[in-house]
Amino acid sequence: MNCIKGFVMIAILGLGGGLALVYSGMINVAATNPHSALTDWLLSTASDQSIHYQAKGIIAPPLNDPKIITEGFEHYREMCVGCHLAPGVKSSEIRKGLMPQPPKLQEAAEEWTLAELFWVIKNGIKMTGMPAWGPTHSDKKIWAMAAFVKQLPKMTPAQYKAMDAAAGPDHDHD
Ligand code: HEC
Repeated sequence: MNCIKGFVMIAILGLGGGLALVYSGMINVAATNPHSALTDWLLSTASDQSIHYQAKGIIAPPLNDPKIITEGFEHYREMCVGCHLAPGVKSSEIRKGLMPQPPKLQEAAEEWTLAELFWVIKNGIKMTGMPAWGPTHSDKKIWAMAAFVKQLPKMTPAQYKAMDAAAGPDHDHD
């Protein structure tokens, strides 16, 4: 019994301490203030595990048609390159100021399946700056973006530049 009382007391004190910390304003939300190693691990592990879990059961349609890759490129150039860079695109002002910093997809895309890329692009990631594109884009367009992103790790700067030139000037797509 005493043991249970002690446990409840500690839980109440812990909760009280946590609330006091939240209300004190001492948690620095500045994007220039990096997460601690523990917070970083917690957030990125929860995020990675969630993406694996949520994408289970999503099956990619056939995406080999070069027209699909071109369509994905056009969306990527318009909406993603500022945050995620590309072969030959080495930095951007918006990426420098974000916390967490968006990964370079030419490296990170390797570890995700097409279904996982589709899920992330469609739904976004809470509290990170990664927008959900599902509210504004059809599944067909999102699959095209996923198909293009999956090509990024094997794309050279010259190939990216050639796609850019072939697609003509950047204009609005929805
Ligand atoms: C405003 C910046 C921003 C834009 C624009 C943006 N993203 Fe992101 N994206 C992020 C951030 C931030 C993360 C999460 C980083 C983290 O969890 O550490 C992310 C994560 C991702 C991931 C998961 C990668 C990983 O390894 O965690 C994918 C895939 C992705 N974005 C694709 C896209 C695509 C495709 C577009 C364009 C349609 C796009 N993003 C536009 C900021 C952005």
